Amino acid sequence: MSKAIYPGSFDPVTFGHLDIIKRSASMFDELVVGVLVNNAKHPLFSVEERTQMLEEAVKEYPNVSVIAFDGLLIDYMKEHDISVIVRGLRAITDFDYELQIAQSNRKVSNETIDTVFLTTSIDYAYLSSSIVREYASYGTDVRAFVPEFVARRLQDRYQSK
Ligand code: PNS
Repeated sequence: MSKAIYPGSFDPVTFGHLDIIKRSASMFDELVVGVLVNNAKHPLFSVEERTQMLEEAVKEYPNVSVIAFDGLLIDYMKEHDISVIVRGLRAITDFDYELQIAQSNRKVSNETIDTVFLTTSIDYAYLSSSIVREYASYGTDVRAFVPEFVARRLQDRYQSK
């Protein structure tokens, strides 16, 4: 059975992430979406909130599950018998960083782990969680970028700040 993990911060999940999830879910028997717990970036949403929003967003895909992970990604993967990482590539600016992580993960895992890159749909090539947060923080409607329930959560979060 083929199993892959799509890791990230997902702060919050965007249509760009959901496009990668939809496409990779059709390539693997099982797709685990891994939400990073210990994030040095001081996320806007807690790991519980980020996980819960993702669960809501992927509920139509029976072979997709959402988990929170702490520590090294490859340790989680070894423990759960996963050998493929999925990442989305938006533009050449993503490439340097992604290549570095993919190659170091492969080295540190004694070449047992591979990373598969999907090019982001052209519709979402410009999109990132940080851009969504920035617009939402000024009260802009972000429903073109994220599911409606996520847009509401962003609105609530920034209104209460
Ligand atoms: O959405 P992001 O923030 O670009 O995702 C980055 C992520 C979560 C994939 C990466 O930071 C990660 O795998 N972190 C877990 C810790 C780890 O394994 N580090 C070694 C490679 S940087």
